[in-house]
Amino acid sequence: MKEVKVQIIGFGFIGQSFAEVLTKRREYLKRNYNLDIKVVSISDISGTIYGDIDLIKALRTMKEKGRIVDYPNEAKVKKSSGLGIEAIENIEADLVLELTPSNIRDGEPGLSHMLAAFRNSKHVVTSNKGPLAIAFKKLKEEAEKNGVEFKFEASVGGAMPIINFAKETLAGTKIISVQGIFNGTTNYILTKMTRDNVPLDIVLKEAQEMGIAERDPSYDIDGIDTASKLVIIANAVMDIDATIKDVKIEGIRKITPELITLAKEDGYVVKLIGEVCKNKLEVSPRLVPISHPLNVGGTLNVAVFYTDIAGEVTVIGKGAGKETVSALLSDIISIYRCR
Ligand SMILES: NC(=O)c1ccc[n+]([C@@H]2O[C@H](COP(=O)([O-])OP(=O)(O)OC[C@H]3O[C@@H](n4cnc5c(N)ncnc54)[C@H](OP(=O)(O)O)[C@@H]3O)[C@@H](O)[C@H]2O)c1
Repeated sequence: MKEVKVQIIGFGFIGQSFAEVLTKRREYLKRNYNLDIKVVSISDISGTIYGDIDLIKALRTMKEKGRIVDYPNEAKVKKSSGLGIEAIENIEADLVLELTPSNIRDGEPGLSHMLAAFRNSKHVVTSNKGPLAIAFKKLKEEAEKNGVEFKFEASVGGAMPIINFAKETLAGTKIISVQGIFNGTTNYILTKMTRDNVPLDIVLKEAQEMGIAERDPSYDIDGIDTASKLVIIANAVMDIDATIKDVKIEGIRKITPELITLAKEDGYVVKLIGEVCKNKLEVSPRLVPISHPLNVGGTLNVAVFYTDIAGEVTVIGKGAGKETVSALLSDIISIYRCR
């Protein structure tokens, strides 16, 4: 049995969803993969707890108090006011699960967390796209230099398999281009505008009330989130050395119900599409034929790979939510399967 000591850095929605799944899956992972995954530290903005952590107590602490340092006082679990970086530098572990908020301005705090993990010979598994969108090459190089793995399936398309799918399942096949819908919020908005013939601001307000859209929706609506994911696909799947600055971006603010109706009359829907083709990265609203595989509704994500020997291959899945944990788990398993 291989014991894997994991540090969770960022204990919000995804961190807690991971912990919840792990409480239910620990025996299954031991039995089927010979892996004993142990969370040895948890950090959020209140500080860090480390030692013999009971995940059920950690989850209860978050539910009741909202801060991990309010974990019950007990001898086997220590507390520190240090944040993620101190935890990575000072606590012994094999793998860092980096789950702090995505920041595409400078990638922080995730970027420093990941680099510190590599320096300390720890593998990194993450759902945080920010650092990858601005410093993919550097992160990959640092991981390689230190002989550790860097896995980020959850950072694009949540639970939808895309990175590992392209690199492993389609290994040996040349991917010529990738087109997809990589942002569930804008897909929900466009789907609803198409169905109910209502303007963007009304659907947006409703999406915010339902918790599908952020209070500041510009990241989604202006195509920046889609662009970040496109950069990760370009680097990871197509070996293109790109950053967010290389993406031509147009969001969906100009899309009106009238335009959608006109498109519908001609047999098309309007979708926010991200495309990597040759060295060109572009995000823009496009007309998609109603019967095309890219026409998925609601908050779903989709990616179509255009390949040399496999033809067109399409994957569809949940781009966000609790389901994202499946991608984190498969990344962890794949690290130890290879080794
Ligand atoms: N939510 C989804 O469905 C989804 C899907 C795919 C990918 N992602 C990505 O996954 C990541 C996590 O998402 P989320 O929804 O879980 O976000 P979240 O709920 O905002 O959680 C982020 C966590 O990071 C903590 N944090 C912030 N700065 C920190 C620091 N310096 N050291 C340690 N912890 C720190 C926050 O603490 P406080 O809360 O105390 O500030 C919080 O616990 C993001 O990068 C997101 O883009 C999310």
